[in-house]
Amino acid sequence: MKNEPSTPEASIDRIKEISAWISSVHDLDRLLELITETAARMMNARAGSLLLLDHKTRKLYFKVATGEKKKEVKAYEVNLGQGIAGYVAETGAPLLISDVKKDPRWYKEISESIGYETRSIACVPMKMGDEIIGVLELVDRTDGSSIGNADVPILTVFAELAAQAIGNARKIEKVKRENQDLREELASKYQIIGESGSLKKVISDAFKVANSKTNTLILGESGTGKELLARLIHQAGPRKDKPMIVLNCAALQDTLLEAELFGHEKGAFTGAVARKIGKFELADEGTIFLDEIGEMSPGMQAKLLRVLQEGVFYRVGGNVPISVDVRVISATNRDIVKEVQAGSFREDLFYRLNVVQIQMPSLRERKDDIPLLAEYFLSIFKKERGLPDLTISTGAIDKMLRYDWPGNIREMRNAMERAVVMGNGKEILPEDLPILMPKTDNGEMIPGITLEDALNRFKKKFITMNLEHTAGNRSRAAKIMGIQRTYLSRLISKYNLRDV
Ligand SMILES: Nc1ncnc2c1ncn2[C@@H]1O[C@H](COP(=O)(O)OP(=O)(O)O)[C@@H](O)[C@H]1O
Ligand SMILES: [Mg+2]
Repeated sequence: MKNEPSTPEASIDRIKEISAWISSVHDLDRLLELITETAARMMNARAGSLLLLDHKTRKLYFKVATGEKKKEVKAYEVNLGQGIAGYVAETGAPLLISDVKKDPRWYKEISESIGYETRSIACVPMKMGDEIIGVLELVDRTDGSSIGNADVPILTVFAELAAQAIGNARKIEKVKRENQDLREELASKYQIIGESGSLKKVISDAFKVANSKTNTLILGESGTGKELLARLIHQAGPRKDKPMIVLNCAALQDTLLEAELFGHEKGAFTGAVARKIGKFELADEGTIFLDEIGEMSPGMQAKLLRVLQEGVFYRVGGNVPISVDVRVISATNRDIVKEVQAGSFREDLFYRLNVVQIQMPSLRERKDDIPLLAEYFLSIFKKERGLPDLTISTGAIDKMLRYDWPGNIREMRNAMERAVVMGNGKEILPEDLPILMPKTDNGEMIPGITLEDALNRFKKKFITMNLEHTAGNRSRAAKIMGIQRTYLSRLISKYNLRDV
């Protein structure tokens, strides 16, 4: 800070800037600098500094220093009670000293060693409630005169501003920490185990959407933890004290599904002996989890869409519109985008459900997590079975690492459970795991079938591979395999490969 003239306009601008910063506190260090600089400038001081008290060491350190020697001065620390700053921090009383040489409290070592001639100092405490957290001080005037008594109240206002800024920043820090704790607690309750990058991304996305009502579509193979994630999203958000209602859309045929979703009035159909409240109503103010949404029939898709668009529905057989406030999380293991393209899943419904999309990684895409998951399931099942000393052999872990896990974590959980039950009770061995080892390169050669069957299996696989390789382009695939296109078409119908 060179000796720029301090016009009232410039000071007012800076104070406005401070007030804008103080409410957002995105950069506390910059804000404290701004406060100290502005105070020094308004009072034409040669230097200003803000010192904070470290309660553990009972020392004050320079958080901000302005003026010619600002770099040098920052290297110093002052003991509580030492010098003028130390005195103010200890007593909490502001101090103005117009000639430091005449004051016994003056601690001249800093000034002398950095070669800075000091005459007058004004120093005021910064307080948070009753606690003194530091001091703000000004040294001399730019014109060489002493700082006056009238400056102390102004300096006090700046010290209050600084203390308020620090207080806000601490509060925000505290809330952040509490949030972090809460997240960790929830994550351990809903135990989504895994350290891999892909899973961490999924969890952080889940926490992001948790706070809003955004409809979320979770994609992923079966057993990858879609439902577990849906529960985490519900639990981590403001709806956690309201229910999360789960409905598997694949389990019921249309009329039953409709009655489950929307409820029915007494006598709505044969067997409707009493009024039934539907899942949408039960989930009011909470979350509904529509599992296997990809299996929903076109008729039900249309009904669901209407509810999502209008926010109201009727119980089956009822004529009173019922409105609910429900957050929808849906999940499917199908390639839903392909279903939309093929016309079997309504595009408009897809957009309603897919405001945010989260893709669960398959277990084979995050094999790093296998040992961790194995330990986790082992800890659960050994407790359940009363086998506290049971361990898992490295051979068994290796076997799990080499396996592809088509059934993902659900399959792994089941495999571990079986291994715990069927094993020797001391150590889980590779042979305790009920998993078939990876198919080797000899296709799907298996003993016990006829040559013709084996050839058919091979042909089917080979054609599929080539169709995938050419992204479904039959002419190119036929050319590569050296067969006629018409013959390829016949094989495609014979082996039912139209979807490839
Ligand atoms: N990351 C994970 N950590 C621990 N257990 C998991 C994890 N993912 C899934 N599971 C467990 O695997 C099983 C299948 O999970 P689920 O959420 O039902 O999968 P999906 O709905 O995708 O088929 C459940 O027992 C679940 O608790
Ligand atoms: Mg599921």
